[in-house]
Amino acid sequence: MRKRKLIAGNWKMNGTLEANDALLRAVAAGINELACQVVVCVPAPYLAQVQMLRQGSKIELGAQDVSRHATGAYTGEVSATMLREFGVRYAIVGHSERRQCHGETDAIVAEKARTALAHGITPIVCVGETLAEREAGQTEEVVKRQLAAVIHVNGHCISEIVVAYEPVWAIGTGKTASPEQAQQVHALLRQQLAAATEHAERVHLLYGGSMNAANAATLLAQTDIDGGLVGGASLKAPDFLQIIAAACA
Ligand code: PGA
Repeated sequence: MRKRKLIAGNWKMNGTLEANDALLRAVAAGINELACQVVVCVPAPYLAQVQMLRQGSKIELGAQDVSRHATGAYTGEVSATMLREFGVRYAIVGHSERRQCHGETDAIVAEKARTALAHGITPIVCVGETLAEREAGQTEEVVKRQLAAVIHVNGHCISEIVVAYEPVWAIGTGKTASPEQAQQVHALLRQQLAAATEHAERVHLLYGGSMNAANAATLLAQTDIDGGLVGGASLKAPDFLQIIAAACA
């Protein structure tokens, strides 16, 4: 059976109580019968609000990060246990903005994925090359290195993760990877997973980076693209709903 596609919205550091309310209600109203999975990854202070708003809908709740530590003196961090208390089912880990701005290494990202899994949260592990790396012909080497670290630490649990291929040069820039470019990398990631688990087909491989209402259908039609991690377009209900519709088609 073909697995259902997964569309995850990444709100990043956006939102207000009022705007979230309007956005969630509009998205929930637009999706009744779902042939795909929908997640919104919201800023931590809004988890309680969105947990309430999503009730009765098919929208799952996600976080944008998770601490690799269980508890203790880690000012500003949010633990997996805390996320679970608010009904969080998914957590983005290793987003390029966190790798770049917060010094997250491959090893830290792998530990975060492990912590999430240990608490019943599905990590959405982001990998992707910068423009300089692509131009230097290093795309394959970079994404493989990033995923290898997560495979190494998570062993046979690796089929429980979600992977998001997000070329850094495509994030928030309006430049999307072509469906062929994206598929090429997704096929590589699938191969790498297949070497680690016999359940590689189960793993959702998302594409992220300027996915929008206009380009979603073609990207999602690629063999190894099982969904999307959507930034900017997830903040506009009509756009997000169009992407969801493309995934449910
Ligand atoms: P974008 O962001 O859709 O705005 O490019 C995607 C992401 O960073 O997850």
